[in-house]
Amino acid sequence: MSDKLVVYYSRNGATRKAAEKLSEYLNCDITEIVSKKKYRGPIGWLAAGRASMRELKVEIIEPELNPEKYNGVILCMPVWASNIPSPVRTWLDAHKDDCKKLSYLLTFNGGGQDKTIAKLEELGGKAEKTVHFSDFERKSDVWVEKLTAFANEL
Ligand SMILES: Cc1cc2nc3c(=O)[nH]c(=O)nc-3n(C[C@H](O)[C@H](O)[C@H](O)COP(=O)(O)O)c2cc1C
Repeated sequence: MSDKLVVYYSRNGATRKAAEKLSEYLNCDITEIVSKKKYRGPIGWLAAGRASMRELKVEIIEPELNPEKYNGVILCMPVWASNIPSPVRTWLDAHKDDCKKLSYLLTFNGGGQDKTIAKLEELGGKAEKTVHFSDFERKSDVWVEKLTAFANEL
């Protein structure tokens, strides 16, 4: 078992799939950030976008595993309104000082990934490594190669 931890938030499952693949590949622990607010359906979508744009924090259920004892944390999330999803903002703000070698994995539709990484670095400090997967990439085999290359660099 490696000394890294994969931490993820996923509303619809795309990030969960990438995070699980990464933890399998790294043979490391994985833990989920669960938002108390569920952001379901179109109204939830709008609320999620608004909260993210306004850079609000929301209540989360604390993940089972704490980053403190790991020697590398990979925080995985979707892009929301070219910004950090609010549940991830809550977690990162609380745990940024507990994370050694923080890397980011993002999933997104088609844009806003670079702005989101800039926002993450503003909040959590310079990233060790970053990777992002568009919907288009995730429908092909390319993303597995990209994920493997990312994992090998960690
Ligand atoms: C509220 C909201 C805002 C989003 N904003 C963006 C965006 O700015 N750019 C983008 O490319 N995708 C955006 N997306 C799409 C998600 O980033 C993408 O579908 C992601 O893979 C979903 O991950 P998940 O299935 O783990 O929730 C947004 C999705 C939601 C719910």
